[in-house]
Amino acid sequence: MRRRQLILGSLVAVLGWGVARALPPGTPTLQALAAARGLRWGAAVTNAQLQDPGFRNLVTTQAGLIVPESEMKWDGLEATPGRFDFSAPDRLLGFAREHGLAMRGHTLVWHQQLPDWVQTLPAEELDRALATYISTVVGHYRGQLQSWDVVNEPIADDGSGLRRDLWLERLGPDYIARALTLAHRADPGAVLVINEYGLEGDDPKTARKRQSFLTLLRDLRRRGVPLHAVGLQGHLYANGSGPTTFASLPAFLRDLAALDLDIFVTELDVNDRELPAAIPERDARVAGVYAGFLAAVLPEPRLKLITGWGLSDRFTWLNQFFPRADGLPQRPLPFNNRDATKPATAAIQAALLRK
Ligand code: XIL
Repeated sequence: MRRRQLILGSLVAVLGWGVARALPPGTPTLQALAAARGLRWGAAVTNAQLQDPGFRNLVTTQAGLIVPESEMKWDGLEATPGRFDFSAPDRLLGFAREHGLAMRGHTLVWHQQLPDWVQTLPAEELDRALATYISTVVGHYRGQLQSWDVVNEPIADDGSGLRRDLWLERLGPDYIARALTLAHRADPGAVLVINEYGLEGDDPKTARKRQSFLTLLRDLRRRGVPLHAVGLQGHLYANGSGPTTFASLPAFLRDLAALDLDIFVTELDVNDRELPAAIPERDARVAGVYAGFLAAVLPEPRLKLITGWGLSDRFTWLNQFFPRADGLPQRPLPFNNRDATKPATAAIQAALLRK
């Protein structure tokens, strides 16, 4: 009995020390710091990740909003025509409500994660399927979400105009206005968003993509199409292979605000794929990019939300989609692979505290 008590006692001590070390008491949470500026701090999560008690605790203490990383995409909700399964996002919504968190809807119209049966539809049937999908899904969550990413990534990567995907090719450029109008009809109170990546950096390709995005937005505003905010995904890079400086970003945000649109950062992370393996250098470079990006966006009064594409380095999509050549896990998020603070945490806290 004594031996068992000794083992149990030392286990509790180690666990207690681990938890205490992870987040020193009194550290202001990201949500608290964001709220002090009239913002929310969010995180993309999955039901599977939330089965981990430590990560669940990190999300409920550090975030004020969650967004389904994948559970709310077409391939999960309507795998078979006309048969909707809302169980996975409903679980996430239940978690959000249980812990007083808001939840975003992501995403209705995208060229990825579509069921096979949608991808093969001819134009007329595709249009009907789109109308049924948006009406059913937005209707199901009517009045329950902070906002909806109605259209995701509609601009061509080279900034030459709209992305030439099945939506544009079969339904024409008006699919965007149609999707927004259908979503508004299904939930007139919903905050409707167009979400896009590759708008953050100072390079010529980003400048072209920004202009194409503004052309689309100006047309939608002129026509009075329901639209309330834009989402800048914020997939950044800790080296030259993507946006690492943001000198031109404040002016672009002012262009967006001039269209009377709110601005959400929707998928923030900092890719360290090309950096050398040494963790102190990687963490420092990632923290520096967080600092530079937040310094560029936080002064914009129309910024209302910052959401990371994850919260802990334990769970990042980047290891699957942008694996490091050395096979080491990436370190792109505000908390490290033990859900503990890291230089990026301090950089984000400092940026949110700065007046
Ligand atoms: C990604 C998820 O993180 C992956 O788990 C999934 O397999 C593919 O989609 N931009 C988006 C997100 O808008 O929906 C994507 O999320 C990442 C890029």
